[in-house]
Formats: sequence, C-alpha cells, structure tokens
Amino acid sequence: MSHWQELEQKYFMSTVERLPVTLVRGQGARVWDEDGREYLDFVGGWAVTSLGHCHPVVIDAVVEQVRTLIQVSNQFYTIPQIRLAELLVQNSCLDKVFFCNSGAEANEGAVKLARRYGKRYLNGAYEVITATGSFHGRTLAMVVATGQPKFQQPYVPLPAGFINVAYNSIEAIKAATTSETCAVMLEPVQGEGGINLPDDNYLAQVRAWCDQTGILLILDEIQTGAGRAGTLFAYEQYGVEPDIMTLAKGLASGLPIGAILARDRASVFVPGEHGSTFGGNPLACAAGYATLKFIIENDIAGNSQRVGQYLTAGLERLKEKFEFVTDVRGRGLLVALEFNNDIAQSVVMACLERGLLLNRLKPNALRFMPPLIVGKDEVDEALGILDKVLSTVTG
Ligand SMILES: Cc1ncc(COP(=O)(O)O)c(C=O)c1O
Repeated sequence: MSHWQELEQKYFMSTVERLPVTLVRGQGARVWDEDGREYLDFVGGWAVTSLGHCHPVVIDAVVEQVRTLIQVSNQFYTIPQIRLAELLVQNSCLDKVFFCNSGAEANEGAVKLARRYGKRYLNGAYEVITATGSFHGRTLAMVVATGQPKFQQPYVPLPAGFINVAYNSIEAIKAATTSETCAVMLEPVQGEGGINLPDDNYLAQVRAWCDQTGILLILDEIQTGAGRAGTLFAYEQYGVEPDIMTLAKGLASGLPIGAILARDRASVFVPGEHGSTFGGNPLACAAGYATLKFIIENDIAGNSQRVGQYLTAGLERLKEKFEFVTDVRGRGLLVALEFNNDIAQSVVMACLERGLLLNRLKPNALRFMPPLIVGKDEVDEALGILDKVLSTVTG
C-alpha cells in the first residue's frame, strides 16, 4: 500500500472498494499512476471523460474561464450557462434547461418538476413510477427511485412517492398508474443495473401510455446522453421524445455538472421553487459548452457508434472463443460482457496488472465505457489484453 493509500485509509469514510492504484495524470484514453505506470482507461471516469482526459478544447475553455469568472450567484445572468442551454435546446427535443452539479441532483430536480406539474395539472398527483434494475443516484429520494433493494435497505424508512415496477413491462406500468401518478422515469438503456436494453417498442409503449394518461415521461440520460449510446441522446434511437430529460456525467468531460431539460409544457417551476448555489456556474458550463460543441461538430456520437460496434464485434469473437463468456450487449460505447460465473473482479484485477482499466459491472459482468474519442487501435489493444487474461481463466 502506497503512502497516499495509507492516508486515504486514515482520513476517508469507507464508501467504495478502491482498486490499488493512485492515478495522477491523464491524456486521451490513457492515465498514469504515481509510479509512472501507464493504463488504457476503459472506465473513463465512470462514463464521464467523453473527450478523453485533458482534451485541448476543454483545457482551453476552462483555463480561459478560470481567468475570467469562476462563480457568481444565479441571481445574475452569466454567459457560459446561457450558451450551453441554447446549444442543448437547439440539439434536443426539449425547450428549457436548469443546471445543477450531478446526476442525482438532476433527477431530484426532475422529480420535483414532475410534482409541480402534478400539482398544477393532475390534481396533486405526485407519485413517480420507475423500473427494477434502474439506477438514478444516491440521494435519499433517488435511492427509492432506484429499483434495486440493495441501495434502499440500508436507509429505511424511505421517502414516499415512488413505485418500482418490473423493467420492460408496459403492463406493470399500466397496473401501477393511479390518480396519484405524475410521471414515469426510466433510463433508455439501464447502465448501472447491468446495461439492460429496452425491448422493442417498450419505450414507445411507455410514451403512448403517458400521452394517453397525461402523465410525464422522464428519461434519465445521465449515463447514455451526450453521445455515449451512439447518438447525441439515446431517445433518438427508440423513436420517443421525453417530456423531461436529465443529463450529467459526460456533458462537461469531467467538470461536475448536471442538467434538467423540459418541454415548454412541463417547464412549470416559478422563481423560488428550485435552485442551486453552484449549479450552472461559469466554469462547469464553459467546459460543458466546449465539450458539447466538439461532440456535435465532430460527430463524436458517430465515433461512439462506429467504435462501439467494433468493440462489440471484438467481444463477440471472445464470446465464441471462451465458452464461459455468455453475452455481449450495449449501445455505442456502453457495452457489457457477461460470464457464466462470478469472475469479473478477478478479470478486472488481472487486466489492471496488464495496464487496462475496466469496470466490474456485476459479479459476473464487465462494463466498457472508454472516452468517446477512443480509436480502433486502442480497442484492439484492450481486446488483446482481455484475450490474454481470459485465456488464463477457467470458466
Ligand atoms: C443513469 C444514472 N442516473 C443517475 C446517476 C447518478 O449520477 P451522480 O453520480 O452524478 O449523482 C448515475 C450514475 O451512475 C446514472 O448512471
């Protein structure tokens, strides 16, 4: 254990099982540890560093902004947040934006917005239907929205107002809808829950049900958005448009940011009903504007789709080679590889030894979420390391 890791043990609350590496520098799809060892980074700050580590357009935007204006109160107009809001609206189906600092906070705000909508238009309806296997964040309300008991049980009693129903079942959503329901909230592709893809027509059926009943559809694109799933927003691939969408993670390529987007008719906050001290601060928004503009102008979502397909094809070959590999699934550069037993942690550790960072998605599955600018040569390198590691595993 290094000096820094010993200090961490002394001073930190124990909320995460860290890997035994202290990272000090990053460039593109690579990072380096305190001893100068290089790693190919297919974790990408947990689907965050969309343009890779320390991309020049992000550096330039942040450096210029940090020299100019870092933070003022949201009582005043500031230019970076207005430019980013305009870019988001011009490139999505939504009309209005609110900025915050993280994904959980964006989802909390989206649920508050849906409750305001319920009060105004749905006789005070307040309940939000979410799916099993979902992940919507770590705040107290979002652990209830998250349809996974392991995130909820440590914190009972839980706040009211959420119903978790079976994923991929329109019938379950219909059965759970009552006069108290104001919204359905879903990830277009479930990320943390296992990279679970929606069945054909599921999202379209949910959209139709929301239209029929007058309740709102909230899409949590915190993991899938900003190009990760192979289009700027994942909803584009499923022929549905949300009433409210949340973003965070990759939007500013590493600077902390979250966003709630809403259609005009769902944009019902009035002054004083919601707010954030840091949300929309000039620094994060300058990074967000530079990132999103670069993603749009350079078709980075297209790269995510093409290189994602290349990665998926390579993983399919590993599936054919190793009989203990049972599934490959994903969209764009959000891909899972599943095994028939719980070897993911040992595969992650063996890849780490050989200079490849991967995420253990579940005890029996890995997740690949490299920067969206990753190239096929880097994918080949990662597949080569993984192939060697899997060759040493007996399934
Ligand atoms: C779909 C989704 N929603 C919400 C969150 C929470 O985001 P944050 O960790 O920024 O609060 C995550 C984080 O992994 C996520 O994947």
